[in-house]
Amino acid sequence: MSDLGAGVRSVALRDAAQVLLPPEPGLAQLRGPQLNAQTLDPGSLSLRDGRIAALADDPLAELSIDCSGCAVIPGFVDCHTHLPFAGWREREYEQKLTGVPYEEIARAGGGIRASSRALREFSDEQVLAQATALAAEMLAHGTTTFECKSGYGLSREAEMRALALARELEIAVAQTTTSTALLAHAVPDGYSSDAWMDVVAEMMGEVISAGSVTALDIFVESIAFGHDDLERMGELAAAAGLALRTHVEQLSHMGSVPIALAAGARSVDHLSQIDAGDVAALATARCAAVLLPAAEFLGAEHRAPGRALADAGAIVVLATDANPGTAPVVSMPVVLGLAARMYGLAVRELLGAATLNAAWTLDLHHDRGSIEVGKRADVLVLDGPAERIPYRFGHDPVQIALIGGEIAYVSDEAAADRIGDDG
Ligand code: NIG
Ligand code: FE
Repeated sequence: MSDLGAGVRSVALRDAAQVLLPPEPGLAQLRGPQLNAQTLDPGSLSLRDGRIAALADDPLAELSIDCSGCAVIPGFVDCHTHLPFAGWREREYEQKLTGVPYEEIARAGGGIRASSRALREFSDEQVLAQATALAAEMLAHGTTTFECKSGYGLSREAEMRALALARELEIAVAQTTTSTALLAHAVPDGYSSDAWMDVVAEMMGEVISAGSVTALDIFVESIAFGHDDLERMGELAAAAGLALRTHVEQLSHMGSVPIALAAGARSVDHLSQIDAGDVAALATARCAAVLLPAAEFLGAEHRAPGRALADAGAIVVLATDANPGTAPVVSMPVVLGLAARMYGLAVRELLGAATLNAAWTLDLHHDRGSIEVGKRADVLVLDGPAERIPYRFGHDPVQIALIGGEIAYVSDEAAADRIGDDG
């Protein structure tokens, strides 16, 4: 973190080699050819009072950043993470590597249940310390907004505690966060999925009065919840005025996409096992196809048809799925590098999927996710052209991250040397 430029009202980002701009202002999301119609031309930006003020230099800015040789892009929006969680599960990963399937690990009390036990054992301070450190790592990799989920509580009280911790995390970190109540993640011991959904329904008053939750989520899978539960979650979300997020088609093909769409889902996440016939339904749907290549790669899962979804015009989104089980990954540049190779996406497609389309998934597209006059000044200065993000796989390209027009992260001395105090 840096206190460079703290309190300045105006910042000029000068002479960038590339500035990522949408094909036209005011687009809520980017579909099909709109993704590749984003431009990466040379340019400058001026920021004022936390917002993007002009797509041009401001010679009178109090602070300037020399962006020569750099790409300037919107901050990444990681719209699918499982923060805050407790501890890690590295031994399970070793089991998976040697051929034990996730379903078997889960049935033996590992998986989500293991993280639920850890959450119970960790104090609030311990959970927040881990999540705050991860948020700092995310910022260093360019994430300026991220989603939090509950889901490791597996009891009414523990889920409400997880949502309260997510709220505390929001206050503790530099980024904006949103909270999703993943109230149907694993069926708690002693319940049928039906009986647990009755508890979820009873919890809704409490969830809404927690004040910070914007979405409900459900894990639809042979080892988790079914289509009846998905329909019911959709009804609960609609009644509460919350968005419906869904984990579908991750480990086995269940045919969940049409049911999620009928239930009003804002997003269908994973899609590793979606069949070709369901791609067309997403082509025009107001529902994001959130792809999670880190979970697919590390879990040796099937691959979502990312290329076909982009070609069809679906709202393609990329996210980390940061969680202690399937994706212990917080770096959006790594996710973009995986997605490029695994799905065959071009750089502009990767960038649109990780910025404006991800912001749309969280209903934040009016405020952020693209470089447009009036939007929040969450921008990154990279150490080279944007095409290097997937190419230099594993390298962290972020030199400077600004959040709301303030410098929130500077990678090293070379990056700091770009910053000049003109005031
Ligand atoms: O999104 N699929 C369900 N939930 C997580 C994994 C949870 C875990 O293994 O802890 C996911 O991949
Ligand atoms: Fe997930």
